[in-house]
Amino acid sequence: MGSRFPFPANPNGWFRALYSTELGPREVKPLHIFGRELVAFRDEDGVSHVLDAYCRHLGAHLGYGGRVEGRGLRCPFHAWLWDGSGTCINIPYAKRIPPGARLRSWTTNEKNGLIMIWHHAEEKPPSFEIPDLPEYGASDWSPYEVRRWRVRSRWLDMNENAVDQVHFRYVHGTHTVPRTEVEMDGPVLRCRSRMKMGTPRGEIDGGIDTTDWGPGFQTVRVTGIAETLMVNTSTPVDDEYTDVSFAYSVKQGAGTSSQHGVGAALIRDLEKQMAQDIVIWENKKYFEKPLLCDGDGAFPVYRRWMRQFFAEGAWRTGGEG
Ligand code: FES
Ligand SMILES: [Fe+2]
Repeated sequence: MGSRFPFPANPNGWFRALYSTELGPREVKPLHIFGRELVAFRDEDGVSHVLDAYCRHLGAHLGYGGRVEGRGLRCPFHAWLWDGSGTCINIPYAKRIPPGARLRSWTTNEKNGLIMIWHHAEEKPPSFEIPDLPEYGASDWSPYEVRRWRVRSRWLDMNENAVDQVHFRYVHGTHTVPRTEVEMDGPVLRCRSRMKMGTPRGEIDGGIDTTDWGPGFQTVRVTGIAETLMVNTSTPVDDEYTDVSFAYSVKQGAGTSSQHGVGAALIRDLEKQMAQDIVIWENKKYFEKPLLCDGDGAFPVYRRWMRQFFAEGAWRTGGEG
């Protein structure tokens, strides 16, 4: 599997650890992401934290039996108490906390209904932020309708789809190849596609605006038939698999929502497209030097963009074929 990709499984960026709704008040959850064992907990003030999972004392996994106490997480094995910064703040049976009683605490940011976690291969602090989405929580936008896939691939390869206008015709069966403009702005990548969309009442002008903030957070705004927002997050599970999730929100209008009408139909259509894409993704290989032709999309721009989320020496030069 590793040989299909010249780049590491874990790029630098913000990734979904959990949806906010997956971590209730005082709840504790084990996480298996980035090929590591982590633990998430929501403290008594409602703040979410992510720590390395193995208790520094004797290695118990805090995600299995750990309990929230105040702002900390109590280990199930010998009751050491860890706060959200990863510092041991209490050992009920000891007079003194030994030096070095620390766990790695991961930088998190909870917004847009997501608990995002910052991953950096050299543990550097965040170099960009995720925006607040105006649609999230707005009264005229439906709550998220969440779909999830475990895909045997890496998101930065899958996501090349955004600039690959030609595949829409041959993989998804659209009649025309949409016009796509691609623009890179630091860690942000914007793709604008304009196309004709077929409706029972004839063709209308439609658009898809895809914006990536780093390698793990993407919004897709679809206009035309129904106004839809997709919040796409993808988190590396390990070297092989990625946890891909799309959260759909539909602008509530005449007879449409994420459950009914054109909004629901659009979601079904996007799910069908996903199934079509997955077959390609799980079996393709990443060519560092693909053989492109003049009708192809802006792959060079996309690839320049994705490169920034890896350290210089992290890529190995692989062979094509
Ligand atoms: S292993 Fe956690 S307190 Fe002993
Ligand atoms: Fe696709």
